[in-house]
Amino acid sequence: MNNIKKKLMDKTATLGVVGLGYVGLPLAVEKAKAGFKTIGFDVQESKVEMVNAGKNYIGDVVNEDIEEIVKSGLLSATTDFAQVASADCVCIAVPTPLDAYQQPDISYVKASAESIVPYMHKDMLIVLESTTYPGTTEELLMPILEKSGLKCGVDFHLAFSPERVDPGNLIYKTKNTPKVVGGITPECTDVAAAMYEAILEAPIHRVSSPAVAEMEKILENTYRNVNIGLVNELAILSNKMGINFWEVVDAAKSKPYGFQAFYPGPGLGGHCIPLDPYYLSWKAREYGFHTSMIESSMMVNDRMPEYCAERSSKILNRFKKAMNGARILILGVAYKQDIDDYRESPAIRVIEELEKGGAEVVYYDPFVSEYREHGVVKKGEPELTVELIENADLVIVTTAHTNVDYDFVQKHAKAIFDTKNAMKQVESRENIELL
Ligand SMILES: NC(=O)c1ccc[n+]([C@@H]2O[C@H](COP(=O)([O-])OP(=O)(O)OC[C@H]3O[C@@H](n4cnc5c(N)ncnc54)[C@H](O)[C@@H]3O)[C@@H](O)[C@H]2O)c1
Repeated sequence: MNNIKKKLMDKTATLGVVGLGYVGLPLAVEKAKAGFKTIGFDVQESKVEMVNAGKNYIGDVVNEDIEEIVKSGLLSATTDFAQVASADCVCIAVPTPLDAYQQPDISYVKASAESIVPYMHKDMLIVLESTTYPGTTEELLMPILEKSGLKCGVDFHLAFSPERVDPGNLIYKTKNTPKVVGGITPECTDVAAAMYEAILEAPIHRVSSPAVAEMEKILENTYRNVNIGLVNELAILSNKMGINFWEVVDAAKSKPYGFQAFYPGPGLGGHCIPLDPYYLSWKAREYGFHTSMIESSMMVNDRMPEYCAERSSKILNRFKKAMNGARILILGVAYKQDIDDYRESPAIRVIEELEKGGAEVVYYDPFVSEYREHGVVKKGEPELTVELIENADLVIVTTAHTNVDYDFVQKHAKAIFDTKNAMKQVESRENIELL
């Protein structure tokens, strides 16, 4: 069984990554950059073709890195799972979304595991990296993988290691973010830790089971969800009380311990914070348990786009303008600053609310030229011009992109609703209202 550890140490192991998205592609690139022959698997032919052509499509990956490792033969991609047969380790990083009833959709994890089964072999390591409810690796994944006839912990190793990548983070990337690893057996944990030690520069934190690692990831994201819910609720109250809540958070931040700053905004976005806590709420029901903190924060956070539309309506009112027929310019549809990902973006919910009220909404986002929602494509404005700003009855800042000239926006806008305090450096503030 220790053959795999030897192969990891002398870098003769072949490493696989299933799912070449925001998580999987950077992971595959790090594996190849560490000198391992790496195979990426995806069901999307277009992604596979791009990787094999050395072309990058993920913001956090350096174009030259992918070009180089593909040219040198260290990284290749395929839709053919038969190549799993030549891999010693496979990490699974496929989507874990919610279904229409806000319940876990674990079908991608199941499908990818079933694709691996026919090609599994002795001494192999499989690691699930997709965020999911505690119990998935042991209760769902292990039985599927054991259909291969191989026994987990005896013939192959299985572990869960949550992915913590924070797209757009300039300091912490896949390579230097500490990794948590929990295997089915202590040996499974050891082998998985050895794999990450061979490719990452970050410390590896070992836990006693996959369930601890699964719960740990949900704790991280629930912690953020709940704290964002708290500041959103207090921001609404502060507005009623005539208090600038951003100033409140800045003041609280001066305490050197016991307080971590969270900021209000138009709602939650991205593939993680709005979704992951629901994985736990769902699982909790199996134990007759209600995750009341999650429910409360979700109630606040989910209402934020509507609240932003109501506040926008009040601002327009002050200018004797109705929402119906107003021209509104949205600045930013990405779910967070300086990235091109608009999944679950609250800005899109804000646009929907404004359009429901009869507003004519256009948007500008230097990272997202168009987006698709409910099968409809909405194109952004190609440039932030004086005319575009002056023509708007209201400008709403919904993403705090750092490459927008906010002084220019302030100079030409009639009224601005800044839901992210993105314009904090702008000195003239007479036409700016904060969330
Ligand atoms: N994006 C993030 O910031 C982030 C951060 C931490 C954790 N996560 C978690 O990581 C997981 C992956 O997220 P992501 O953002 O990389 O998703 P993504 O949608 O960007 O990428 C997933 C990839 O998996 C592929 N795929 C789907 N089904 C497949 C199958 N059966 N076989 C092979 N490939 C398949 C898709 O085509 C896609 O390319 C999720 O569980 C997510 O919650 C994401």
